Amino acid sequence: LTSIPDKLFPAEIQTSLHTKIFGKKIYHFDVVNSTMDIAFDLGIKGQEEGALVLAEGQHKGRGRMGRNWVSPKGKGIYLSLLLRPKLLPNEASKLTLLAGVAVSEAIRKITGLAALIKWPNDILIEDKKVGGILTELSAETDRVKFAVIGIGINANTKKSFLPDEATSLREELGEAVSRIELTKQILKDLEAFYFLFGKQGFSPIIKQWKHLSATIGRRVKVLSRKHTIEGEAIDIDSDGALLIRKDSGFIG
Ligand code: BTN
Repeated sequence: LTSIPDKLFPAEIQTSLHTKIFGKKIYHFDVVNSTMDIAFDLGIKGQEEGALVLAEGQHKGRGRMGRNWVSPKGKGIYLSLLLRPKLLPNEASKLTLLAGVAVSEAIRKITGLAALIKWPNDILIEDKKVGGILTELSAETDRVKFAVIGIGINANTKKSFLPDEATSLREELGEAVSRIELTKQILKDLEAFYFLFGKQGFSPIIKQWKHLSATIGRRVKVLSRKHTIEGEAIDIDSDGALLIRKDSGFIG
């Protein structure tokens, strides 16, 4: 099975995709520096919401906080999706949480593995990271002009390529995963949750996020630019911020 080429060609992805806007326009590349840069350029050029950038590999895949994202060719899923949400810049983290829910659901449907979300954006299986989400914005003070949601998934990546605390779907499942089927399912679930968010606001997303959370009820250490907070994660609020009961008893 692993020898069957499963390149993420637009025609393959679009076959019985049945989404309204996500993936109607697909830009597929062999190897790029980062799909984020390409999608960001499309945003600047006025490309429509739902445009998708896919690459077989990345030279400079990036994660949050300046980390890099290991992106060997033909092994993982590396995609960036252009969105034009009606949001304030400080609400953009909602998109990250929404994408986390969609990606976990899609992994569950395609592989049967119990994917969970570690706040805010890590997708875990058995406590090891299989995927991550990176949201980048073009914003003015009072509105988001566009957002790019980047999703990276270690689908068929060998463990030896990955950081120690990471894994791949193939490692966990014991067999190769169809990147095409998983990419399609991610697009379907992402669009469904995005439309739900548009219609009913953030509360149904938060509810689903809590079901899939690997974080709530556990000890956490959150690093921000300025300081580190340690304590027990007790909930997320209606905006998606993590509430932590610090060891001092203070909730913040
Ligand atoms: C993280 O966990 O820190 C986020 C990782 C996001 C990786 C994806 S791969 C596709 C897109 N292009 C990038 O350079 N990064 C994102």
